[in-house]
Amino acid sequence: MNAGIETVVFPVAGLGTRFLPATKVVPKEMLPVVDKPLIQYAVEEAVAAGARKLVFVTGRTKGAIADHFDMAYELETELEQRGKRELLETARSVLPAGVECLYVRQSQALGLGHAIGCARSLVNEEAFGIILPDDLIDNGDDPVLAQLVRHHHETGASVISVEKVPREKTASYGVVDVAAFDNRVGRLRGIVEKPDPAEAPSNLAVVGRYVLSSRIFEILEHTEPDHRGEIQITDAIAELLREQAVDAFQFEGRHFDCGSKLGFLQATVEYGRKHPELGGDFSRWLDEA
Ligand code: UTP
Repeated sequence: MNAGIETVVFPVAGLGTRFLPATKVVPKEMLPVVDKPLIQYAVEEAVAAGARKLVFVTGRTKGAIADHFDMAYELETELEQRGKRELLETARSVLPAGVECLYVRQSQALGLGHAIGCARSLVNEEAFGIILPDDLIDNGDDPVLAQLVRHHHETGASVISVEKVPREKTASYGVVDVAAFDNRVGRLRGIVEKPDPAEAPSNLAVVGRYVLSSRIFEILEHTEPDHRGEIQITDAIAELLREQAVDAFQFEGRHFDCGSKLGFLQATVEYGRKHPELGGDFSRWLDEA
């Protein structure tokens, strides 16, 4: 049995309006948490889950993402000539050998479901992973996508990561309806996008990690836009679960919503405290401040 997953899709074509003006020119996914851009954490998680094909769904102003994963000839030559071996390794290690990056454009930001649909021609018939890079999840030893991939291989089911949120916040998330959980896993009965707290089927919100059957692409072809004009992956998953098993998975790990300023600052502090070089000094400074 295959222990990993071949393809992971990174939908990174959103406008990032909550971070303006920082994201006017710089993609949200290139904002660094300490010394690595968000997209780098996402790629490392995908590779740890066995991915060999990385599909980026990009849009206008997102060129820096492709540049980041390209070889930087001038920089590398310069570092080599100056004998800066360690820095050279750091620059080169953004992408392990044997991992391929593919790019497709979403020409208009018509929603997450639409963005994922844009990747169709680059994904084969097998189940594939999805990572939303602005959902940063800290669980160094066992990254969340790898947890989902294991569950998928054990059961054959599609699987999406969920976590509890305060009930008054359900209108900001996709929310799942699950009868019961057994050892962190529950079979989905339903899923709705941004429900009012009074109508939400639970307080379990979808976080940006999925392993989905490729059947989702056929469903996305006819998924209607919602009242905001966006095609939602949530609506396509609601249709998928009428045909195939889809599980919700309460992952282990600490989630930071780096699409919001508060979550981004929290991640910066937590990752700063744990950083191998500066964690000690930074923690002392924080604790004294
Ligand atoms: P968000 O809801 O965070 O939207 O998208 P956003 O545009 O990135 O940011 P804000 O809300 O304006 O600040 C969730 C994920 O879906 C991708 C985003 O890039 C992000 O990874 N997305 C969203 C697309 O790729 N295309 C879209 O049309 C919408």
